[in-house]
Amino acid sequence: MNRLVHPDDFPASRKSAYLNTASVTLMYRGAETAAATWLADLASDGTITFDEVAEEGVFDELHRATAELLNAREEDIAVGSSATELMASLAWAVAPDCTSNIVSTGIVFPSTIYPWIRVAQHTGAQVRFAEGQGEYVDPDAITALIDDQTAVVCVSHVEYSGGQQYDLTRLAHHAHDHGALLIVDGAQSLGAIPIDAATSGVDALVASGYKWLCGPFGVAVMYLAPHLQGRLNPGVVGFRSHEDMWDLQATRLELPQTARRFEVSTMAYGCAIGLARSIRYLLRVGVGRIRDHNRQLADHLVDGLRARGADIVGPRLEEERTSIVAAHFPDCSAGDMARQLNAARVVVSARQSAVRFSPHLYNEPSDIERALEEIDRARR
Ligand SMILES: Cc1ncc(COP(=O)(O)O)c(C=O)c1O
Repeated sequence: MNRLVHPDDFPASRKSAYLNTASVTLMYRGAETAAATWLADLASDGTITFDEVAEEGVFDELHRATAELLNAREEDIAVGSSATELMASLAWAVAPDCTSNIVSTGIVFPSTIYPWIRVAQHTGAQVRFAEGQGEYVDPDAITALIDDQTAVVCVSHVEYSGGQQYDLTRLAHHAHDHGALLIVDGAQSLGAIPIDAATSGVDALVASGYKWLCGPFGVAVMYLAPHLQGRLNPGVVGFRSHEDMWDLQATRLELPQTARRFEVSTMAYGCAIGLARSIRYLLRVGVGRIRDHNRQLADHLVDGLRARGADIVGPRLEEERTSIVAAHFPDCSAGDMARQLNAARVVVSARQSAVRFSPHLYNEPSDIERALEEIDRARR
């Protein structure tokens, strides 16, 4: 198995066996440089360089890069500060009423569903959870909850704890058959798994910059299908929400007819510039190649863990697997194992009583071997 990217692109990858992208990525060097340069320029020149024209166009390149990543159009993309904020604004925009229900899973990351729970508390909509068996949810248990009263099916494309991946096309098909929207949290997949927004039937998707997209905290993206763009009234608005952001007239709020109506205000703009760089980089490497590389690393890891008697939790079918691998060890708690591995510079997280490993494009087979060696040492 060859190295996929040069370590100079991720200098920190030399310092540890970093298997924790599902928490926070090692940042692509070009993204860090771009974000830091923007900040330094702002500090030294203020609006001399970051003038109104620059501020208005500051998301343009991120719109273009994200659109390319998702096989979408620039107008379909909105930029925000976090996936959670974008999801919350979307949930208030859809606001399912008291006759309707929202379907999700019982093992989803809280930020994916809390905004919908909050809206449902306000409107009286019902929230239905497909029950997990451990870190696994049978996709049929999700579709069984969808009926003609379902307004929204909201899932995480890849579950954060065990790495189970859902078939978005199949879920979209079931949701649409009942007149519901499929709204996806792509925080654990975008950048690691090819997603074709147009053909998958996804109605909206949000993703954070700081995980598989290899960018910084402080920025996230949202895809909004064209049929929703003129219809939804964002839950959060500010001066950037107006069609012409420099209009600055308090007495009118006219939203653009594109996904940009979900862009609100000022933010850590340099992070958006950095994220555009890292997405361009991922596009150059190729997301299909990244997925294949990551899966080979995950296969190697799963073989090694099973040989050591560990129990792999989460996905049951081959097509449900991703590069997130979570394991129970028979003789060591997840917390203890994660602590010992981190102390030995094998960087992982403990999640829901399992140790979670999440290799990405900057990892090599030697990182997996280091992890297995340190697991052996920890159990001795
Ligand atoms: C599936 C999922 N969604 C959302 C988030 C949080 O995203 P953000 O920090 O951009 O709000 C996480 C963080 O772990 C996550 O795993």
